[in-house]
Amino acid sequence: MRLKGKSALITGSARGIGRAFAEAYAREGATVAIADIDLEAAEATAKAIGSAAYAVRLDVTDQSSIEAAVKAVEVRTGGLDVLINNAAIFDLAPIVEITRASYEKLFSVNVAGTLFMLQAAARSMIARGKGGRIINMASQAGRRGEPLVAVYCATKAAVISLTQSAGLDLIKHRINVNGIAPGVVDSDMWDQVDALFAKYENRPKGEKKRLVGEGVPYGRMGKPEDLAGMAVFLASDEAEYIVAQTYNVDGGQWMS
Ligand SMILES: NC(=O)c1ccc[n+]([C@@H]2O[C@H](COP(=O)([O-])OP(=O)(O)OC[C@H]3O[C@@H](n4cnc5c(N)ncnc54)[C@H](O)[C@@H]3O)[C@@H](O)[C@H]2O)c1
Repeated sequence: MRLKGKSALITGSARGIGRAFAEAYAREGATVAIADIDLEAAEATAKAIGSAAYAVRLDVTDQSSIEAAVKAVEVRTGGLDVLINNAAIFDLAPIVEITRASYEKLFSVNVAGTLFMLQAAARSMIARGKGGRIINMASQAGRRGEPLVAVYCATKAAVISLTQSAGLDLIKHRINVNGIAPGVVDSDMWDQVDALFAKYENRPKGEKKRLVGEGVPYGRMGKPEDLAGMAVFLASDEAEYIVAQTYNVDGGQWMS
């Protein structure tokens, strides 16, 4: 029960990695807002987790939706202790085919969504005066570029940078901001990644997924629950002195 009595909001937690975080947080004693643009799926996830979870509709690209979600957590639990900025979207295309619409959508969800969610949570935590924890989901894609993945990689590099700046700015309020950089994790997002690689690299469906899994030193793709231990640790008292870092949890793929 390392998160006993904590109130957490996890963006994009109706499915995938965010859902695994919500399940782990509930097991560790936290109350969790399943905050997602897909309210129906968020409600189903909250129901499956039980009384420790509740659904909140959230679009991280909409400022009024961000503020309403933080308010909903304050009203329901008395204040926000932990935010996980997990919601993100993916796209890929060769440089010469990237569209402005795709660029703007990815930066709006992955970067502006992370920043303004983080800002709203920090304002709430500062007003309450009890500090807090913010965890941003980066990616190994933020550590280096990839030929077909320029925009998504750039958004995740921006998340690592925002984690550093916000971490340094907010620690004076005893708000620790850190990040997690997964490698390849089997989720709905990776089904979409696989379909896009199938199109652009002319591969049979499922082949890219199999190949990336075989390339992981651990020997397989990650599962959403492989990430949960780090998310619990970063929100726990044991991580009090950790500030502005982004940790790789990727089965050995990246080493700095
Ligand atoms: N799957 C991977 O291999 C992988 C690797 C590295 C990093 N990540 C990162 O981990 C996080 C979770 O990834 P996942 O694979 O579970 O993704 P996913 O696509 O399975 O789930 C993402 C969730 O975010 C929600 N969402 C999308 N747009 C939203 C918005 N505007 N507002 C609120 N919610 C929104 C979706 O409804 C969905 O429930 C993301 O930040 C992703 O970039 C994933």
